[in-house]
Amino acid sequence: MKLFVDTADLGEIEALVPLGIIDGVTTNPSLLAKVGNDPRGVLKRICELVKGPVSAEVVETDCDGMVREGRELAAIDSHIVVKVPFGKAGVQACHVLANEGVRVNVTLIFSASQALLAAKVGAAFVSPFVGRLDDIGTPGMDLIRTIVEIFENFEFSTEVLVASTRGPMHIIESARLGADVCTCPPKVIDALFNHPLTDIGLERFLADWAKAQQVVG
Ligand code: G3P
Repeated sequence: MKLFVDTADLGEIEALVPLGIIDGVTTNPSLLAKVGNDPRGVLKRICELVKGPVSAEVVETDCDGMVREGRELAAIDSHIVVKVPFGKAGVQACHVLANEGVRVNVTLIFSASQALLAAKVGAAFVSPFVGRLDDIGTPGMDLIRTIVEIFENFEFSTEVLVASTRGPMHIIESARLGADVCTCPPKVIDALFNHPLTDIGLERFLADWAKAQQVVG
């Protein structure tokens, strides 16, 4: 399963890339707004840092506007994947852009029917938001199970990109269900590393080693 980082913060990306575990980046207008101006400059720099898919979202709301903006975003770098929000305009824009060879990530997916429609028009990725579903008392991972099953039934090449992840269990469950990608905020990626027994174990190894050195010395 691929692991993307869900941030537009260059410092956070620079810290994670050397670990070798990051396969791509997802951004959205909220994340880009948080890091200040010149979003296209930021996107270009992210593409230089991460040689994988980098999702950049349109903010136009009608199909023609989304297609125009999507072409501009795609021209920034060959790693850009154009993110369009689900809806009739987004689906139509995905259809047009995908036919031109632009990779599209259809975002704000909250139902299996939405994922199916996005796959039918050639989306490269669909982004179901599991955390936001959990927030309203609807199990987000049930949606992932259903979408994975549907895509397998029809051999869609559309990848299931699990978004709005809030903790390690979203990532573990996604991997068990066969989702293609999980995108995570940096703090969720950090949480994947942590286990108290690892810390205790290392502390003990080092203490035992230091004791043995004293005996030898
Ligand atoms: O990739 C989508 C993600 O940024 C949304 O996450 O935590 O705002 O629901 P969240």
